[in-house]
Amino acid sequence: MKTFLPFFLLLITAVHSLQCNEDQQLSLLHFKKSLAYNSSVSSKLISWNSSTNCCSWIGVTCSTNGSVISLDISRESISSGIDNSSSLLDLQHLQSLNLASNNFVGTFPKEFFQVPSLETLDLSDNLELQGTLPEFPKNGSLRSLILRNTSFSGLLPNSLGNLEKLSTIDIEYCSFSGSIPRSIGNLTQLVQFFMSMNYFKGPVPSFSRAKNLAVIDLSFNIDLAGPINSTRCENLTDLVNLNLGYNLLDGNIPSALFSLPLLYSLDLSNNQFSGPFHQISNFSSCFLEFLDLSSNNLEGPIPISIRNVRGLQRLALGSNKLNGTFPISSLHQFRSLSYLDLSQNSLSLGLDATDFSYSSFPQFRNLYLATVKLRSPFPEFLRNQSRLKYLDLSHTQIHGKIPNWIWRINTLYLLNLSSNSLNLLEGPLLNPMPSSLRVLDLHSN
Ligand SMILES: *[C@@H]1O[C@H](CO)[C@@H](O)[C@H](O)[C@H]1NC(C)=O
Ligand SMILES: *[C@@H]1O[C@H](CO)[C@@H](O)[C@H](O)[C@H]1NC(C)=O
Ligand SMILES: *[C@@H]1O[C@H](CO)[C@@H](O)[C@H](O)[C@H]1NC(C)=O
Ligand SMILES: *[C@@H]1O[C@H](CO)[C@@H](O)[C@H](O)[C@H]1NC(C)=O
Ligand SMILES: *[C@@H]1O[C@H](CO)[C@@H](O)[C@H](O)[C@H]1NC(C)=O
Ligand SMILES: *[C@@H]1O[C@H](CO)[C@@H](O)[C@H](O)[C@H]1NC(C)=O
Ligand SMILES: *[C@@H]1O[C@H](CO)[C@@H](O)[C@H](O)[C@H]1NC(C)=O
Ligand SMILES: *[C@@H]1O[C@H](CO)[C@@H](O)[C@H](O)[C@H]1NC(C)=O
Ligand SMILES: *[C@@H]1O[C@H](CO)[C@@H](O)[C@H](O)[C@H]1NC(C)=O
Ligand SMILES: *[C@@H]1O[C@H](CO)[C@@H](O)[C@H](O)[C@H]1NC(C)=O
Ligand SMILES: *[C@@H]1O[C@H](CO)[C@@H](O)[C@H](O)[C@H]1NC(C)=O
Ligand SMILES: *[C@@H]1O[C@H](CO)[C@@H](O)[C@H](O)[C@H]1NC(C)=O
Repeated sequence: MKTFLPFFLLLITAVHSLQCNEDQQLSLLHFKKSLAYNSSVSSKLISWNSSTNCCSWIGVTCSTNGSVISLDISRESISSGIDNSSSLLDLQHLQSLNLASNNFVGTFPKEFFQVPSLETLDLSDNLELQGTLPEFPKNGSLRSLILRNTSFSGLLPNSLGNLEKLSTIDIEYCSFSGSIPRSIGNLTQLVQFFMSMNYFKGPVPSFSRAKNLAVIDLSFNIDLAGPINSTRCENLTDLVNLNLGYNLLDGNIPSALFSLPLLYSLDLSNNQFSGPFHQISNFSSCFLEFLDLSSNNLEGPIPISIRNVRGLQRLALGSNKLNGTFPISSLHQFRSLSYLDLSQNSLSLGLDATDFSYSSFPQFRNLYLATVKLRSPFPEFLRNQSRLKYLDLSHTQIHGKIPNWIWRINTLYLLNLSSNSLNLLEGPLLNPMPSSLRVLDLHSN
């Protein structure tokens, strides 16, 4: 014990005396002085003072030799700028810099992108922070570049393709423009690719060499155009989420997308994709939970093999040129389906089900069938629905009475029965209207 205790104390002292390099301590104090922030909100900068060692400051991480390698001053209500003479640039071993969720203003100095050791840069949620991307040298060290929700703008340089270690790029809600450089196709380590809500135009690059890609989001760029059939998606076996919605993409939808083993969310809505739906999609080994192909130019019948996609929770095919008859019995297969949009096509719904109980039907929350031909009395299959919030049966050629059980669905928010041949409100109205109801449209009956 006598020999053990001093040794133990020595060990503790050694851990505590992780000595911050004096130059770096001064650089950090200098940097702190250059910042305007609200000290009653601060939980990190408030702990930075010269009477303690910088390796013990909150938000500062040192390596074993006392070099500052990581700085996190996110959520500190900082409302000043950073200039290109910032003492932060003296931290030559910095690997991670997190300035997210402040109110930084002015232009972010390009010099920071050149810090050779920098692997992670997070500037997200600084609405007034401007900047452009520099040319990136070959073999850059950046792995994670997060500029989401800032005022960064300009073009993406071709040299983005030099960042061969890049695994996450998130520049959503910025103001970048121009085309997405093809050199992106050289990035093999990409896992997350978030570029929605910018002003990109031109083609979607090929990602076929990025075999670890899990998420691609290029939605809401408005002018991304051209086909995606050369994107060679069959190799993207780790892809879980693909969102290309709200662009100008056209041509066929690559059928390989529907057999990617991990893909659970596919949104290609609001584009100009065309071709016969049943030809592009073999649903026999498809594990999608969210499929949105609405507002395109897809034609022909809905392939019957869609029954195989048992896990579907959201199926949106509205506003296409689909035709033929969709058998209502198919819905029986989708136990988790809560959102179904078949509206604004030339579809018919085949009320072929007499031999099974509607009680085992999925419980819908949103059911949009406008213009789907039912040619029947008010559909009985809705009788056991208890979670419906939006129900649109307008222009569906239904006739006869509006059954009184419909008012028992006490979650209803919108009920559109307009432009049909309904002629009677069935009584007695014990439970007149669900209190949740906000929109009731019965016109043109
Ligand atoms: C600083 O933050 C506190 C708490 O949010 C707030 O009450 C105070 O008005 C802020 N001070 C300034 C100068 O913004
Ligand atoms: C410096 O920071 C430490 C730890 O946050 C605190 O205990 C100490 O009072 C501070 N000293 C001064 C002079 O502000
Ligand atoms: C200190 O550690 C950093 C980061 O691990 C390293 O890059 C640097 O070369 C080291 N410095 C010295 C003097 O050993
Ligand atoms: C730093 O910025 C100032 C003004 O923005 C500019 O005049 C100067 O050349 C820049 N210095 C470096 C080293 O880039
Ligand atoms: C962007 O950042 C601002 C300020 O931090 C925040 O209020 C807003 O919700 C963020 N917007 C998005 C889309 O994340
Ligand atoms: C890239 O950097 C790594 C070490 O970080 C090195 O091993 C490799 O040779 C470099 N490649 C090129 C092409 O410079
Ligand atoms: C991909 O990298 C190779 C080798 O570095 C280069 O020759 C090619 O031009 C790059 N492709 C693109 C599209 O930048
Ligand atoms: C897909 O991967 C296979 C095997 O790894 C490879 O041979 C093929 O060239 C890849 N296809 C594309 C389009 O990159
Ligand atoms: C992609 O589709 C366009 C038009 O739909 C067609 O002209 C082109 O040949 C197709 N390219 C490939 C690689 O299939
Ligand atoms: C659909 O895919 C399955 C397996 O992926 C395959 O066995 C079947 O032949 C395909 N059907 C068509 C019509 O291509
Ligand atoms: C469905 O539309 C296609 C063309 O889009 C047409 O050739 C076919 O005859 C239509 N089928 C029905 C049943 O209307
Ligand atoms: C509604 O559910 C009840 C009990 O689950 C069942 O007995 C009845 O047949 C169902 N009605 C319809 C129309 O499916």
